[in-house]
Amino acid sequence: MKILRRKADLRAVTRSWRSAGETIGVVPTMGALHAGHLSLVEAACARADRVIVTLFVNPRQFNSPEDLAKYPRTEESDAEKLAPFAVDVLYIPEPEEIYPEGFATTVSVAGVSEGLCGAARPGHFDGVATVVTKLLLQSDADFAFFGEKDYQQLQVVRRLAVDLDIPVEIVGCPTVREEDGLAMSSRNQRLGPKGRAAAPAMRAALEEAAHALVGGASAEGALDIARQALTAAGYEQIDYLELRADPGLLPVSTLDGPARLFAAAWMDGVRLIDNLPVAAA
Ligand code: PAF
Repeated sequence: MKILRRKADLRAVTRSWRSAGETIGVVPTMGALHAGHLSLVEAACARADRVIVTLFVNPRQFNSPEDLAKYPRTEESDAEKLAPFAVDVLYIPEPEEIYPEGFATTVSVAGVSEGLCGAARPGHFDGVATVVTKLLLQSDADFAFFGEKDYQQLQVVRRLAVDLDIPVEIVGCPTVREEDGLAMSSRNQRLGPKGRAAAPAMRAALEEAAHALVGGASAEGALDIARQALTAAGYEQIDYLELRADPGLLPVSTLDGPARLFAAAWMDGVRLIDNLPVAAA
């Protein structure tokens, strides 16, 4: 696995792969790799001839300088974690490779980026959409892999690839969970022992709400019970708890087609998110 930091070097490598007729898969990450990321890497290796993992902590998608500063930076151990996989390039761009001097372009996706994390974290999806567009173009990928844990992000990326005619297939991969059901996230390592023990209540609350909805409960009733469960478990603040249609992510008040439950809440001062599909019975 080569480590590259310049887009010109990456371009030279992807050109040689292309001229040999090889396909390219990319896994965009911000590092602090865990089993969730590695499942994306595995999917990429199974699907593409050549695999690029990108590692860039994108300042434009953080809402506060404190959150950006707290984001774990573990480049060396990230590279070690990738060693067992058939990854060809770990691309760790210097900031100016992504945001050159005078950078003035923002990719902003309407519709699917509204509400949920889009409302709770203003500007977040503009930051994500802009950097992902650049990483897709820089990597020249045929396939790009994203986790369903960030389900709204996955829809934003699908939309921008179609709208901007980027010739890439966006592949969504299932959420990887700890044994107790907590969705894997780089943020989990910031939880204290008590918070870590209580955090799986989010997944349990979503499951209970999904069960109630399928049993005929109203969205309002099911979400109320879930809200109480999160509070009882020690979640300090709930950013949202919502039922949305899938695809499209429009808010729905009754379960009359495929939908998804979404939650974002704070435990130990750490913002955690999760989501779960709900099918009408
Ligand atoms: O999901 C992430 O880690 C980031 O949002 C992404 C897609 C790498 C863009 O910075």
